[in-house]
Amino acid sequence: MTTVAAPGRLIVGVTGATGAPIAARMLEILRRVPYLETHLILSTWARSTIEVETPYSVREFSELADVTHRFGELGATVSSGSYPVAGMVVVPCSMKSLAAIRHGFADNLLTRAADVTLKERRPLVLVPRETPLSEIHLENMLALARMGVRIVPPMPAFYDRPGSVAEVVDHIVMRVLDQLGLPAADAELGERWPGLSDLRAR
Ligand SMILES: Cc1cc2nc3c(=O)[nH]c(=O)nc-3n(C[C@H](O)[C@H](O)[C@H](O)COP(=O)(O)O)c2cc1C
Repeated sequence: MTTVAAPGRLIVGVTGATGAPIAARMLEILRRVPYLETHLILSTWARSTIEVETPYSVREFSELADVTHRFGELGATVSSGSYPVAGMVVVPCSMKSLAAIRHGFADNLLTRAADVTLKERRPLVLVPRETPLSEIHLENMLALARMGVRIVPPMPAFYDRPGSVAEVVDHIVMRVLDQLGLPAADAELGERWPGLSDLRAR
């Protein structure tokens, strides 16, 4: 599977799993990428997690994207494979939306856009968030991974000794953007693995 080539449009889906600050940070970073047009789709429950978990109102959050689509608007541009889009990321991805995407159950714009991304064989990155994971969750992820979907759970790394939640979030955003071929704001987002000997020497 290829990554997002510049210039292009990227669909950013946000669902009602906890982790809205990760999506917010990603949009803050992506809006600085001049060649990229972000198309945001918020699920109904994402609106609640955004309000609870981020300093943004839903309106302010939406303004981080170039275009915002309505969740129920199945007639939107991104609902059709004929509309040129480079790829899609769902961050965070609830187990409900994960299941819907796995089964092609496209009853809202977010799952429809993901379904289109799959059928057009465009890059699709999911950031699934749940713990612990049931057999259903794991099976759905395995099936999607076998379809070429990048499964990137928002797992923290500790080797760079993060000093804040913001640093943990930045590291996760960096790893998700890597999967899209968009290492846009690398230096800003954190450190890459320097090698154990380098790390020990510090
Ligand atoms: C505050 C909050 C946190 C939630 N966290 C998760 C989560 O981490 N993972 C998950 O799969 N569902 C989580 N849920 C449940 C989903 O919001 C729920 O399954 C919803 O139907 C998902 O729909 P959506 O995928 O269309 O947003 C959470 C709900 C709330 C209110």
